[in-house]
Amino acid sequence: MNINEFAKRRRRLMRMMGQDSIAVLPTASVRIRNRDVEYPYRPDSDFYYLTGFNEPEAVMVLAPGREHGEYILFCRENDPEQETWHGRRVGQEGACEIFEADDSFPISDIDDILPGLLEDRERVFYTIGCEPEFDQKVTGWINQLRKKSHAGVHTPAEFVALDHLLHDMRLYKSRSEVSAIRKAVKISIKAHKRAMQKCRPEMTEDQIEAELLYEFMRNGAKSPAYPPIVAAGENGCILHYTENSDVMKSKELLLIDAGAEYDSYAADITRTFPVNGKFTRAQKDVYEIVLAAQEAAIEKVQPGNHWNDPHEAAVRVITQGLIDLGLLKGRLSTLLKKHAYKKFYMHRTGHWLGMDVHDVGDYKVGDEWRILEPGMVMTVEPGIYIPAHTDKVARKWWDIGIRIEDDVLVTRDGNEVLTEALPRSVAEIEELMAG
Ligand code: GLY
Ligand code: MN
Ligand code: MN
Repeated sequence: MNINEFAKRRRRLMRMMGQDSIAVLPTASVRIRNRDVEYPYRPDSDFYYLTGFNEPEAVMVLAPGREHGEYILFCRENDPEQETWHGRRVGQEGACEIFEADDSFPISDIDDILPGLLEDRERVFYTIGCEPEFDQKVTGWINQLRKKSHAGVHTPAEFVALDHLLHDMRLYKSRSEVSAIRKAVKISIKAHKRAMQKCRPEMTEDQIEAELLYEFMRNGAKSPAYPPIVAAGENGCILHYTENSDVMKSKELLLIDAGAEYDSYAADITRTFPVNGKFTRAQKDVYEIVLAAQEAAIEKVQPGNHWNDPHEAAVRVITQGLIDLGLLKGRLSTLLKKHAYKKFYMHRTGHWLGMDVHDVGDYKVGDEWRILEPGMVMTVEPGIYIPAHTDKVARKWWDIGIRIEDDVLVTRDGNEVLTEALPRSVAEIEELMAG
């Protein structure tokens, strides 16, 4: 992401905050995996969205109109010994020169400096509840100011959650954000294709996971955007299956839900295909319903439609399809009213997509579903899941778990399926797997 993009975002946010305000935003903490081993570090998405800064132990402060600089970055000091052991730090100079902070202080000095920054402001934009230890610090700084009120020290009067403004900004993707998502998608498509081509009966799910991760990493995605789901047969009916450890059998379906993260943006793609490369009749029958539901849903991704339109379209097609297969009995309208599809389709048809795989942004405004607008990116991911021994379901349908998930950008005149290049139809999948 170009460094100017971060400056633009900060300026926009400050305009919305107003002059009397201050925003305080810490990045994510380092988390321990076991004993002295840490999880790979990933900055907080909100923090990264405004700074592009990826070191831990950092706090961004925005103080619109502040004479000595509006953008203040607290971060680790340079320390040759620490840097020899644990890696480079940009330090205060780098924070200003590379990351364009107007002012930067060592994170170890934050308790001395932050109360002074809060003092002459009326309104503090800070989101409580994300980093409990940091909440305590903020409370401490405010109390310090209150105690000095007799000496004429002023305490801000208002606390406002920062996410309201920020998450609404993040919902509308800029051109460079869409480019980053396109890149994540491109890498993910390579990985899904590779998985389809490498898949053979008697391999294990983790061997396919390894193929996905290999393709991610060699194309510049250091990490998946979320733990990949590689689920064969009955595992495909477990929505968040991530053990990925079973042997895959010839007549089973394999459901892969995997997306790369690139430049902090996520792809989120699911494909379901036969382990041996050829759909059985029953698998194909169910697959075609999910595919038709997805097509109907994508059709509804249009500016001016509301958030739930695609879901309603998918649910209608799935319900009718289940009636046609004899898996649901009754009239379409009655079954829709009773949400009968939930027996086989228990999740929603999509979510916002961006820096977080389940990205931020409200789905409703007041009591009304949000109206889709150009620049929004969402997934469309209907599915049908029929675990073995499902009540009143013939054996031929057992262990069929199918989801098809694509990433869709709302455009001025409709939509663009960013993941279009990945085979989706039965014929396309069988052809790729046979090749
Ligand atoms: N991969 C998570 C989801 O599809 O929502
Ligand atoms: Mn998804
Ligand atoms: Mn997914």
